[in-house]
Amino acid sequence: VKRVAILISGGGSNMLRLLDGMRDGAIDAQPVLVLSNKVDAGGIAKAAARDVPTKVLPHVDYAKREDFDAALHDALIDARPDIICLAGFMRILTPGFTAKWEGRMINIHPSLLPLFRGLHTHRRAIEAGVAVHGCTVHGVTAELDDGPIYGQATVPVTPDDTPETLAAKVLVQEHRLYPAVLSELCADRVPRLSLGAV
Ligand code: GAR
Repeated sequence: VKRVAILISGGGSNMLRLLDGMRDGAIDAQPVLVLSNKVDAGGIAKAAARDVPTKVLPHVDYAKREDFDAALHDALIDARPDIICLAGFMRILTPGFTAKWEGRMINIHPSLLPLFRGLHTHRRAIEAGVAVHGCTVHGVTAELDDGPIYGQATVPVTPDDTPETLAAKVLVQEHRLYPAVLSELCADRVPRLSLGAV
C-alpha cells in the first residue's frame, strides 16, 4: 500500500476527493500527511476530521524560499510518502527541492498544459478565445507547471462563460481526473488519461 502526502493552500476540494478514493479503496494507498503552507487553509480541518495527520507550515515564518523548502522537506521525510500530491498548493518550489522528489511528486493545474501555465488560467482561456479548456495532472519538475503529463480532462468553453463559471466546470473534471491518475500511479502504472465533458 502506497503512502501519500497531500500539500494544500486552500479549501482542499481536490484533497477530499483523493482522501475519498483512498478510503473507498479505489486508490490503493493510505494518506500519511496533509500539509498546508497557510494557517487558514480550510482543508486542514477537513483532513483532521478524517483522522489524517496534518501539519501547518506557514511560509511567512521563513525568510527565504530555500528555508521554507528545507522545512517542507524535513516534514516529508518524517512522513515517508511514496507519492506527494500538490492539490491547490500555491507555492513555487525551488529546483533544489523538486530535484529531491522528482518522479514522486504530482500536481493538478487548472488548464490544458502546456497552455496557460501560472495563475488566472480561466480568465486567460476566455481572453484567448479557446473553445476547449480543462485541467492537467503532471509530474513536478523544476520548471513551473511543466513535467510529464499523466492525464487531462476537458470542458467546452461557451460564449456565456465567465472565469467563475469556467472554474466551476473545470473543478468538476479535476475531481474526476486527480483520483483516477493517483489510482494508476499507486498501481505502478504510468497513466496517460484523457477524460472530459467535450
Ligand atoms: C484547483 O482548481 C487547482 O487546480 C488549483 O487550485 C484549485 C484548488 O482548489 N491549482 C492551482 O492553481 C495550482 N497552481 P481546491 O483547494 O478546492 O482543491
